Amino acid sequence: MAINYSFLFLFLSPFLHLFLFDRSDKVEAYRFDEITTNLKLQSHVVSLNSLTPAGVCSTPAQGSKNLSRLLQVTHKHGPCSPVKEGKAKIPSLRQILINDQARAKSINSKISNKDQVIDSTVKVPANSGHSLGTGNFIVKIGFGTPKQDFVVIFDTGSDLSWIQCQPCEGSCYDQQDPIFEPSKSSTYSNISCNSPSCDQLKSSTEYEPPCASTTCIYQVTYGDNSYTAGYFATDTLTLFSSDVFPKFEFGCGQNSQGLWGSADGLLGLGRDQVSMVSQTAQKYKKLFSYCLPSKSSSTGFLAFGSEAGASSSAQYTPLLTESSNPSFYFLTMTGISVGGQKLSISPSVFTTSGTIIDSGTVITRLPPAAYSKLRSAFRQAMIKYTPAPPSSLLDTCYNLAGYTSVTVPTIVLHFGGGTDLNVDQSGILVQASSTKYCLAFAGNSAATDVGILGNNQQQTFEVVYNVEGGKLGFGAGACS
Ligand SMILES: *[C@@H]1O[C@H](CO)[C@@H](O)[C@H](O)[C@H]1NC(C)=O
Ligand SMILES: *[C@@H]1O[C@H](CO)[C@@H](O)[C@H](O)[C@H]1NC(C)=O
Repeated sequence: MAINYSFLFLFLSPFLHLFLFDRSDKVEAYRFDEITTNLKLQSHVVSLNSLTPAGVCSTPAQGSKNLSRLLQVTHKHGPCSPVKEGKAKIPSLRQILINDQARAKSINSKISNKDQVIDSTVKVPANSGHSLGTGNFIVKIGFGTPKQDFVVIFDTGSDLSWIQCQPCEGSCYDQQDPIFEPSKSSTYSNISCNSPSCDQLKSSTEYEPPCASTTCIYQVTYGDNSYTAGYFATDTLTLFSSDVFPKFEFGCGQNSQGLWGSADGLLGLGRDQVSMVSQTAQKYKKLFSYCLPSKSSSTGFLAFGSEAGASSSAQYTPLLTESSNPSFYFLTMTGISVGGQKLSISPSVFTTSGTIIDSGTVITRLPPAAYSKLRSAFRQAMIKYTPAPPSSLLDTCYNLAGYTSVTVPTIVLHFGGGTDLNVDQSGILVQASSTKYCLAFAGNSAATDVGILGNNQQQTFEVVYNVEGGKLGFGAGACS
């Protein structure tokens, strides 16, 4: 039954010749380039120096962006921070990881509480659940008339914005700027107890607002035992000197304690009604973006409205809403590749837990089945380096004494819509001690715990939140 195709070959040979030989040089050269590029793409050579904080702030150019329309984003601690003692009070990785674990836990308790069938025999404390740890990145915003500038943590994992206010009736912590004095702002008003805004507060803070005479009171307790409480109020919010939002609803904190560093308060960028994103929707159309710098010695940006996503070619993935958790930004994660190889993880692993993106969680949390695959592939690729004991939740560590640079595999997170996040090299290893470096990912303890795309893995990308358009984008190389 063998068919002799030689006649075909003879017939086609002039064309084959043309194709195979005349063009072969170019074709082969092109393929060779492509292969070497691909091989290069599968690993990063990371200079260990680049993972150690530098002592001097360098502000890189922001490309074609309009600087007067960007809020400068800095690490809370470090040489670029406007907070003066920022540099002195750098927390240890151990402390950061403890806080981070508290935040991840509180995100999960907030998400799972809402889904639970209420058991009438269990009394839930009034403010249980609404508790996220403190974020890490700060911007400067203006409040009041005349405007006063405040340095605040911005947080996509919570909604209510607040600043410390005089008189500190409970206790106020030491902050960077003079504490806001409502009596000196001509546009300040308390929100009254019987206003719809006061009713709405409950949905955003899970806290039934009580009243002080007729004034609505807010209270937020965060997972790391930080808290803030005070009057729910309105005043003018000013961004970029030019964008003015009268009657912006915020918490005027009379009593706040916790791990706020010396930040003056918090800017809530969740998606619930009281969030800054919702309150400025008319002007900014619920569109914002940020780029988180990879080092505390460099700066990123926070942009709103048309400036967000305008100058980077972001890849988008659908942004999902969960009606039971209207505050969080849910994404569809579909897979992970290490060193260019897609890991075999059943898609149900990701759908069981769901995934949110959060600016305040440091280390990305994965479902246990996904994390164990990532860890095995990473360890395999790092086989030539000496393992070191775990550091808190980071269980894949190396002793890199004597190395100035290491070759680490690329890690790509795959999302719905075919969008890939090729994690920057600054988001693969974190420095745990002078010679110890660990994989900057962790596994959840339960398969049902939500996956969290943390800020370490978002570094250097412009992350574009197009809430009205229902999509979230990653634009590579937007800051360093
Ligand atoms: C940058 O933004 C400012 C403030 O809105 C505006 O006046 C200026 O024209 C913008 N510059 C460019 C180059 O777009
Ligand atoms: C806001 O309410 C508090 C408590 O009722 C009150 O002490 C304060 O004077 C009020 N501030 C303004 C500006 O009305």
